[in-house]
Amino acid sequence: MSERFAGKVAVVTGAASGFGLAAATRLAAEGASVVLVDRAADALQEAAASIHGALPVVADVSLEADVESYVAAALSAHGRIDLFFNNAGIEGRMAPMTELSADDFDRVWAVNARGVFLGLRAVLRMMKQQKSGAIVNTASMAGIRGSATFSPYVASKHAVVGLTRCAALEGAPFGIRVNAVAPGHIDTRMARALTAQINPEDPDGVYQRIAASVPLGGRYGTAAEVAGLVLWLLSDDAAYISGATQLIDGALNA
Ligand SMILES: NC(=O)c1ccc[n+]([C@@H]2O[C@H](COP(=O)([O-])OP(=O)(O)OC[C@H]3O[C@@H](n4cnc5c(N)ncnc54)[C@H](O)[C@@H]3O)[C@@H](O)[C@H]2O)c1
Repeated sequence: MSERFAGKVAVVTGAASGFGLAAATRLAAEGASVVLVDRAADALQEAAASIHGALPVVADVSLEADVESYVAAALSAHGRIDLFFNNAGIEGRMAPMTELSADDFDRVWAVNARGVFLGLRAVLRMMKQQKSGAIVNTASMAGIRGSATFSPYVASKHAVVGLTRCAALEGAPFGIRVNAVAPGHIDTRMARALTAQINPEDPDGVYQRIAASVPLGGRYGTAAEVAGLVLWLLSDDAAYISGATQLIDGALNA
């Protein structure tokens, strides 16, 4: 494996599972020192034990003090942050808007939109001083199209696309790049939780139907495939790409 990220310091949120864990594992394999952030303390310890030299920081990305503390932990351990995968998110409840509570909306917004904003704010402050850095936010295909019964999540992921564009413009004069990934159906805990919400009686049937709807391969994507895109966007091969939101969906939205 090449050492694209030798000497770089990477912070990954939502690192205990799914895309975060896959990206952190690969960043470390390609030479980066990784700081793993998640609110699930036990799963985070397990993730950190699987990645040589990883620093775990238990934090809730929706809380200002926690965000400041994961940035401070990265700085006190490594003195800088070169790469940031701002990825933690939750799916929330699926139901028509007319059946959702304000709390259903607020819970999703707090993590997926506010959490991404707080992470960008804290890390950009730092990267502006360094005059360098690369950031990838996790949006979704739900950030570029609507979906009946999924409004809080869809709204929050549209917010991630908007925050990505604003951060790219604010970071550009300092040599900082900011992009987003927009995954389709990827086989992680979250995807399985969604199939169970859609039909608790037959989640496997829902899974098979969704997989069959994907033009490329008739399958869900993998967390490793998403990590491949994230690492590429964080790498110097993407030096002229900023403000972009890249679909990774097996042609589902083509
Ligand atoms: N799986 C998919 O099909 C899919 C598609 C598009 C986008 N996404 C997005 O990808 C991202 C990662 O999801 P995943 O599929 O890997 O799911 P996942 O549930 O496996 O991983 C999400 C991780 O984020 C952590 N987390 C949740 N809320 C947090 C908080 N407030 N503070 C800190 N950590 C928190 C969880 O503990 C978990 O470890 C999310 O933003 C999700 O919305 C997923």
